[in-house]
Amino acid sequence: MNETMKHNVYPIFDKMMTRADKEQLLNQRGLMVWFTGLSGSGKSTIAIALERELHRRGLLCRILDGDNIRSGINNNLGFSEEDRVENIRRIAEVGKLFVDTGIITLAAFISPNNALRQMAAEIIGKEDFIEVYVSTPIEVCEQRDVKGLYARARRGEIKDFTGVSAPFEAPEHPDLSLDTSVLTLEESVGKLIELILKRNERKEI
Ligand code: ADX
Repeated sequence: MNETMKHNVYPIFDKMMTRADKEQLLNQRGLMVWFTGLSGSGKSTIAIALERELHRRGLLCRILDGDNIRSGINNNLGFSEEDRVENIRRIAEVGKLFVDTGIITLAAFISPNNALRQMAAEIIGKEDFIEVYVSTPIEVCEQRDVKGLYARARRGEIKDFTGVSAPFEAPEHPDLSLDTSVLTLEESVGKLIELILKRNERKEI
């Protein structure tokens, strides 16, 4: 008896139509593009532009974004270490459902350390996981301060703020690094498209 059966839970994944069926229907391969980086580094902006470009090329995508997910499925979670683990765990589980449906899934979360990102990669499956580090320096993120959060964090109004009062650990071997203080949005999207097409079985998209 396995762990889930002990709890009277009987998954029926094996009876449902397969990922291969869905991928054939969509004529694309499911993939997770996982963006990591500081708040204000440009993760969501790049994900939005990438989605538009992939959609234009006839590929079905889904964006999962920090502020959206935290106002819905994860609205009971804060920014303690424990809550950040649960945040990423749920996102990875949801992301896996999209990837298993053949969808190119773009996840934009700070995901501030290697252990979190590794957990996500393990849940989703390493062969379906691309790690993209949006490496914009903190000085630039802070200068942009689009949401005014860095200023508030510096004034001590937000505790455990990543980069100010909570750590951010850069990825060691990302598949791609994008510094938005150096690259234009179009250049970042171009590099991503190249990487994604390499992973996709379809040659012409
Ligand atoms: S993560 O660390 O758990 O991966 P996530 O990407 O979901 O973070 O959420 C980050 C967003 O939450 C930020 O872009 C910012 O708008 C908001 N936020 C609010 N409080 C904090 C905080 N203490 N640290 C970081 N981001 C915060």
